[in-house]
Amino acid sequence: MDDPDCDSVLLERTYRQFAAINRLVSGWRRVYRTRIRPRLGSGRRATLLDIGFGGGDIPRAIARWAARDGLGLDITAIDPEPRAIRYVRGLPDAGVRFERATSAELVARGERYDMVISNHLLHHLDDDERVDLLRDSTTLAREVSIHNDLARARLGYAAFAVATLPLRGRSFAHDDGLLSIRRSYRRDELRAIVPPGWRVESMFPQRLLLTHEGAAE
Ligand SMILES: C[S@@+](CC[C@H](N)C(=O)[O-])C[C@H]1O[C@@H](n2cnc3c(N)ncnc32)[C@H](O)[C@@H]1O
Repeated sequence: MDDPDCDSVLLERTYRQFAAINRLVSGWRRVYRTRIRPRLGSGRRATLLDIGFGGGDIPRAIARWAARDGLGLDITAIDPEPRAIRYVRGLPDAGVRFERATSAELVARGERYDMVISNHLLHHLDDDERVDLLRDSTTLAREVSIHNDLARARLGYAAFAVATLPLRGRSFAHDDGLLSIRRSYRRDELRAIVPPGWRVESMFPQRLLLTHEGAAE
């Protein structure tokens, strides 16, 4: 799905399936409850940026949870992929501002957000892209950056292979999901390559949370 010439029908179906996959494995409800919601309220509207929104289900879910909790949160979500933008524009309005952009473009515009998040982005990046993304993230975030990704593990690989077998050939979820697990990090590997100030934690089930408190030094 990273190939700009990949099949658009399969890509759109993959975006649709991300919502179910993320609900099952990504743990954002827990991240919202423990790390985002405590920063909301106190009579202010907070801001949050999601980098690499894909099918847009995660920023849409966070917007829904915050609204249900009566908490003010303005969410911007970016992705450089034109078909991702086209896909989310076809969904019912969820109060999220979706934009076709990279984190570097927002840095160049001098934008800042209280919180910066991403999901399943880190393992897509090569070394230089990861360094740039983490630098952009701390530049853009006033309070906290939270990057949520897969942790590489044999058991998770086998479980995902079996669970997504029915999707094989009907979207990129099965093949790209397995490739993503193979390209993802173990906790110690990620710890060894992130700059000082970043913290790597394990989260159930077989997830890594890479977090940074405060803005860039
Ligand atoms: C595997 S998808 C994950 C989508 C979504 N966050 C999710 O978890 O379902 C990775 C997304 O990141 C986007 N992406 C890749 N590199 C990026 C970058 N440097 N900045 C922003 N988005 C990027 C891709 O276009 C793709 O839509």
